[in-house]
Amino acid sequence: MQSDIERVLFDGPAIHKRLDEIAAQITADYSDRELSVIAILTGSLMFMSDLLRRIPLPLKLDCLSVGSYHGKTQTSGDVVFKLAVPDVGGRDVLILDDILDTGYTLAAVRKKLETAKPRSIRICVLLSKRKRGARNVDADYIGFEIDDEFVVGYGLDFMERYRNLPYVGVLRKELLKRMAADDSVMLSQAKHL
Ligand code: IMP
Ligand code: MG
Repeated sequence: MQSDIERVLFDGPAIHKRLDEIAAQITADYSDRELSVIAILTGSLMFMSDLLRRIPLPLKLDCLSVGSYHGKTQTSGDVVFKLAVPDVGGRDVLILDDILDTGYTLAAVRKKLETAKPRSIRICVLLSKRKRGARNVDADYIGFEIDDEFVVGYGLDFMERYRNLPYVGVLRKELLKRMAADDSVMLSQAKHL
């Protein structure tokens, strides 16, 4: 049976190598700060876990759950906050997310956190899609820039599947179309693990 993944973009070792670099940068930037990390569920879980274990600072960690990804692969509608917004007043906030696409979600998260009057807010994403034109928000730390195509794995999902793949890969285009047309198509994710 053919794989659901068209090609692997970043395997485990490549991701971990890049995380070493970003973690060193963040550690240096926040060495004398009151760092509060806010991880956006669920996509950032693997990234958050691997990144934070490389940052030897006395940081605080909270999670935010937001919903904005309506339907299948397109972001639209309002961003809904499903968890209480943590009190980050006076602290240096670093928001972690899996991927920056339109920036709609992260712009809304940033705006919401600003109401708590933190000392600073920065954004760190594993992936950022190359887009034409202006975006709603920019990231301060980026793992990898990628082309504007749909990726899964290492936390990223397609209709809640593929999050546990140990790499980031591009989903086969016909699968994307088929599943978008019919939610009931059965997938064989297990064969990639
Ligand atoms: P944005 O609001 O358009 O920036 O979308 C951000 C969210 O959409 C991310 O946190 C992901 O959950 C999801 N997303 C955007 N692009 C992809 C992708 O290529 N694969 C999987 N999820 C994606
Ligand atoms: Mg998602």
